[in-house]
Amino acid sequence: MIKAKQKARTLLCVLIFIGGLSLASSLSSQGMRGTIKKESFGKTTGGEQIELYSLTNKKGMEVSITNFGATVVTLKVPDRSGKAADIVLGYDTLDGYENGTSYFGATVGRYGNRIAGGKFSIDGKTYTLPKNNGENTLHGGIVGFNKRVWKAQEIASKEGESLEMTYLSADGEEGFPGNLSAKVVFTLPAERNELRIDYTATTDKDTVLNLTNHSYFNLSGEGNGDILDHVMTLHSKQFTPVDKTLIPTGELKNVGGTPMDFNSATAIGKRINENDEQLVFGKGYDHNWVLTRAGGGLSMAAEAYDPKSGRKLEVLTTEPGVQFYSGNFLDGAKGKGNKPYPQRAAFCLETQHFPDSPNHANFPSTLLKPNAVFHSQTVFRFSAK
Ligand code: GLA
Repeated sequence: MIKAKQKARTLLCVLIFIGGLSLASSLSSQGMRGTIKKESFGKTTGGEQIELYSLTNKKGMEVSITNFGATVVTLKVPDRSGKAADIVLGYDTLDGYENGTSYFGATVGRYGNRIAGGKFSIDGKTYTLPKNNGENTLHGGIVGFNKRVWKAQEIASKEGESLEMTYLSADGEEGFPGNLSAKVVFTLPAERNELRIDYTATTDKDTVLNLTNHSYFNLSGEGNGDILDHVMTLHSKQFTPVDKTLIPTGELKNVGGTPMDFNSATAIGKRINENDEQLVFGKGYDHNWVLTRAGGGLSMAAEAYDPKSGRKLEVLTTEPGVQFYSGNFLDGAKGKGNKPYPQRAAFCLETQHFPDSPNHANFPSTLLKPNAVFHSQTVFRFSAK
């Protein structure tokens, strides 16, 4: 009797052991290594395998990122009652990102925003870029960094989970000089609700560089109406006015007394339809603000608050400017869950150097030289009240 019991127990232990082994192997074949969850996001039309990585923390935040365009696909953040919602626009599947023209969540490069006439010079040599925005080049050209396949790997992080993405942009790609090695590290700290993005780049020839992230936020949750009642603060006393093709005129204009003044928190919709030339040119807000900063390092650029959900976003950056874009070109095309994204369904805060800097000697320089290491940092910090 005792022997039979022992036999049964041994058999059970063996079964549990085998079960454990097969579970572990099935997890690893699904890509569960380290702490970041990795799953297939499908194949590109060119047949390349693309992954989706999910980072989580202890405070209820979850971020998923694909190596197609080093793109933030979902960003789940708790509201004032602790209920999480996805607050970034995007698509459910890879083909949305392959075919999309809105740069949802993407890493934008080699040069974020516009370069006038698709031309700039370095040391008297003129470089010509493909024009993909009327007469100008927008967001790195026809196939910008947002449409490239990046290499991804989880890297060690003391604070939480970190995902590194790298991309080598060849000399001459989209007309830009120099082999540029770009690295973007996304970090989700375990104990804080923030997504930190660290950009690093080196080149083997003089080139120009402007890297940013193009997440579209709706703090009520993506697909939940427009953002006109979100309250915005921009820590900036000047902006760079544009012509009707959205190229900066070169002037740094004081925001005081204009609808561009967001030094005190103001609803995005309050002045957006005013008959102001800059708002007419942008079809709303689509401008670069010159950030007021106390010295170098990370400084507070912008704050956005949604009175409905209580969610608040703070944007900190080492960059000199931020493009506040009020989603003016969104046209009702469908995104996640087949939900339409109408005009102004979200806003972007693209931390950056100023648009068209290569053609404006008075703007902070975007020139990157061999042997120099470019580094910038942006933090999207979340809270609720
Ligand atoms: C930036 C530009 C806008 C628009 C969006 C993408 O914010 O300044 O004009 O092109 O990207 O649609």
